[in-house]
Amino acid sequence: MEKDAFLWWQEAVFYHIYLRSFMDSNDDGLGDICGLISRLDYLKGSPDSLGIDAIWLSPFHPSPDNDFGYDVADYCDIDPRFGTLTDFDHLIHEAHKRDIRIMIDLVFNHSSNQHPWFKESRSSKDNPKRDWYIWRDARLGKRWPNNWESIFGGKAWEWNKATQQFFYHMFLKEQPDLNWRNKKAQEELMQTVRFWLDRGVDGFRLDVFNLWFKHQDLPDNPPRIGLRGYDRQHHIYDIDQPEMVEALAGFRNILNSYPGSVSIGEFLGNKPKIAALYCSEQQLHMVFNFDFTGCPWNPKVFQENILEWELALGDFCWPCYVLSNHDGPRRHVSRYGKRHPDQVAKVAATMLLTLRGTPFLYYGEEIGMLNVPLRRGQLVDPVSRRYYPFHSRDQGRTPMQWDATQHAGFSTGNPWLPIHPKYESRNVKSQLSDPHSVLSFYRSLLQLRRECDALRQGQFVPLQSSPKLGLAYLRSEGDNHALVALNFKGKPIRIQFDCALPHDSWKLAISSHTNSDAGIHGKEMLLKPFEAVIFFSDG
Ligand code: GLC
Repeated sequence: MEKDAFLWWQEAVFYHIYLRSFMDSNDDGLGDICGLISRLDYLKGSPDSLGIDAIWLSPFHPSPDNDFGYDVADYCDIDPRFGTLTDFDHLIHEAHKRDIRIMIDLVFNHSSNQHPWFKESRSSKDNPKRDWYIWRDARLGKRWPNNWESIFGGKAWEWNKATQQFFYHMFLKEQPDLNWRNKKAQEELMQTVRFWLDRGVDGFRLDVFNLWFKHQDLPDNPPRIGLRGYDRQHHIYDIDQPEMVEALAGFRNILNSYPGSVSIGEFLGNKPKIAALYCSEQQLHMVFNFDFTGCPWNPKVFQENILEWELALGDFCWPCYVLSNHDGPRRHVSRYGKRHPDQVAKVAATMLLTLRGTPFLYYGEEIGMLNVPLRRGQLVDPVSRRYYPFHSRDQGRTPMQWDATQHAGFSTGNPWLPIHPKYESRNVKSQLSDPHSVLSFYRSLLQLRRECDALRQGQFVPLQSSPKLGLAYLRSEGDNHALVALNFKGKPIRIQFDCALPHDSWKLAISSHTNSDAGIHGKEMLLKPFEAVIFFSDG
């Protein structure tokens, strides 16, 4: 990547749509592709739009839904509950008309056990597809082929009585891992990449890509201290195997023949130094940093994390930030908002949208959507049910709150997950007409990002070495500077900068407070409770 040539995906804001919760068009209580098309103007292309540039669409393939779409039964089709391939083509057309790019999820570590490949594979030991999955005998004198554990809990091996062997699954037993060492399986997966690129998609989010290869001999992982079986192992043989590099290069070659297409990888482990190994011109364009989803509301922790990733990724890998997603047990406003959800939502948004890197918004965060407290009996996700009440993914996957009508305007049918009880006061429609709402603030921030090169391209320069109450940093591109300051506290604070500013004269571009009197006085500034501000260098 050339240092100074910025590419569309480096300057873009991505919006992650959990399809089944976005908009329902056929009254079955499940979001679908036509529903999404009907809401594209909300995202871009009309005067009221949010102003994003690209969508990452969660899986929509036929699936028995043991892992809500992350167990794919056919990589080249659409689940009829979400629409048809014709609807998908229409989506691409309508999105591109509005200059929105579409990225889809590639779940290539495993398929569903209902995929015809697996059905063939498990049918007999000599079936040609046997080797497309990972089958092993029990080890002599031991119960399992090795000590590997599933990240979703329990052993990673499932016994197949008919053929008297175990198959390997890192996730649920309904999600058998594909054998990436089988060239035919690999080639077939790459054909599906071409299939979707030919249909016009602009890129892919790769689900847990660093698990594709396992060590050829499947040795035991060494032990370590941890809470669950999975955490009590060093994952040196089931994750991050050297063969990944070549596999990603092959994948990237395909992408390179479709100019402008982009890839972003989700990887287990989340270590910035490992992330750096996987992003380059021969590998992936970006790799997710999910650390924010686990950070406490503490400016020092955020700054340390940002600097750690900046250092590890260097000039040649591009960072990418996320505050909430469909796997997190809690949306960030639920994590941090407490008694001031809107104010905190604005501070967090200002940070996410002004860091050096590509921000990924999670549907609904722009209205400060909160988790919906669910009882065990209301949960549908097996992982949420297993780890209730400690970890529930369902609570952050509930339907989008569009307006104050029944079911929040999401569906006229019975929604697949309950809607937040307070949707009448927190929804898109009411926030669009309120200039002080979280949504209006997001729209203004996105507008500022589009207008200010420094916010999209500038270097990240922290202004305090050890922030305690708030964050302050510059984004600097040549003579163009933006200064961002964020008060993490519910009381007024004074931020002292540790270094001189590159300019004397600054103009307030935005504040999360309507009556802000924030100003820069030498090397310090005062901020109101939970105030977020951006200044531009003036002149
Ligand atoms: C990824 C997905 C998650 C899924 C898992 C298994 O982490 O984000 O939702 O359960 O992979 O596919």
